[in-house]
Amino acid sequence: MSLYEEVGGQPFFERLVDAFYDALESDATVRPMYPEDLSEAKLHMVLFLSQYWGGPPSYMEQRGHPRLRMRHAPFRITKKARDGWLAAMNAALASVRGELNDEQFAEMESYFSMAAQQLRNV
Ligand code: HEM
Repeated sequence: MSLYEEVGGQPFFERLVDAFYDALESDATVRPMYPEDLSEAKLHMVLFLSQYWGGPPSYMEQRGHPRLRMRHAPFRITKKARDGWLAAMNAALASVRGELNDEQFAEMESYFSMAAQQLRNV
């Protein structure tokens, strides 16, 4: 069973992504990089994470190959921006902690810190 199925599918990722963007609201470095209206950004993130953790390939169908480094090239991802992004995601993960077992939590936590590090581009 994929992690996507284990956690109950797309609704889990919707909760995670909502909590992530709520936490990001107070980040003066990263929040301004996103558009005012977050609905598209939320949808893309939900579809990407669902696909990444073994769900349906809807992200690929709608957006094409993820190419995350290329898609993040327009943004100045400094160490500070990376840390702010990751702090918001860690807060989001903490908010769903009760829905995950230790292994699932550790897997997601380490993926996000590794990926955020890879996307740093300044
Ligand atoms: C684990 C690390 C990260 C992952 C998995 C991730 C994933 C994504 C995905 C899937 C998108 C949507 C791409 C699309 O289809 O258009 C996106 C957009 C974006 N990401 Fe990230 N990202 C990460 C880290 C970061 C960091 C560190 C920053 C900045 C500090 C950042 C800023 C943005 C911005 C500004 C957008 C565009 C949103 C929009 O215009 O709608 N991301 N990211």
